[in-house]
Amino acid sequence: MSTLKPARIEAIIGASGSGKSAYVKLLALKRRPARLMVWDFKREYADFGTVVGDLSQAVELTEGRRFSIVMQPSVNEGIRTWQFDLFCRLAYARGDLCMVVEELAFVTRPSWAPDAWRMMTCTGRHGGVHIIGTSQRPAQVDKDFLGNATLIRCGRLGHRADVKVMADLLFCDQRALIGLGDLEFIQRRAGEKNNSAGRLKLPGNGNA
Ligand SMILES: Nc1ncnc2c1ncn2[C@@H]1O[C@H](COP(=O)(O)OP(=O)(O)OP(=O)(O)O)[C@@H](O)[C@H]1O
Ligand SMILES: [Mg+2]
Repeated sequence: MSTLKPARIEAIIGASGSGKSAYVKLLALKRRPARLMVWDFKREYADFGTVVGDLSQAVELTEGRRFSIVMQPSVNEGIRTWQFDLFCRLAYARGDLCMVVEELAFVTRPSWAPDAWRMMTCTGRHGGVHIIGTSQRPAQVDKDFLGNATLIRCGRLGHRADVKVMADLLFCDQRALIGLGDLEFIQRRAGEKNNSAGRLKLPGNGNA
């Protein structure tokens, strides 16, 4: 089923510990979506839905109008690759949902991603989807995803090459991205002229 609702595509990039997952959990998923599928590579989203390790369970659990599933994929790369393909096909078939994919670099490459992932991130207007993908490094993520993102959020980066890629995506000076601290970010929303910057507020540690 397709609708005219535009897709929301969030690309969350930054080095380990920069605050990507904290952003996803504390802000992006703050209002729990009615239909949620999480690709939980690091096994840290158990609070967000029913944990599954196999796609047939995921198919069953996403049959209703509302669902929240947290797929914990295999650590074996070959198995994980086809698991991700099926995960994306399922998300595409269900439509009208929020899909979180943590650590995109483990399942996509700069010039390759599963067809269903490309359908959701490239055709743009499929079923009102909200897609959130995270990666420590931009160069390892498929370029179409980054190019089609409606929000690009960048935290502390660990490599000079990443600074260049992210500055291009954010249309900003590379110097703006050097020296970001953990939880600090610069982001660009599609349709907005100016980037915004800030620091993610964590609950109960004095910086909220
Ligand atoms: N729900 C939370 N509440 C409070 N603090 C959190 C929460 N989630 C993460 N943090 C803290 O925020 C900081 C950033 O961690 P986070 O897991 O977001 O990094 P990350 O960018 O996802 O790193 P990685 O690439 O290794 O997954 C850490 O200091 C972590 O302890
Ligand atoms: Mg993380």
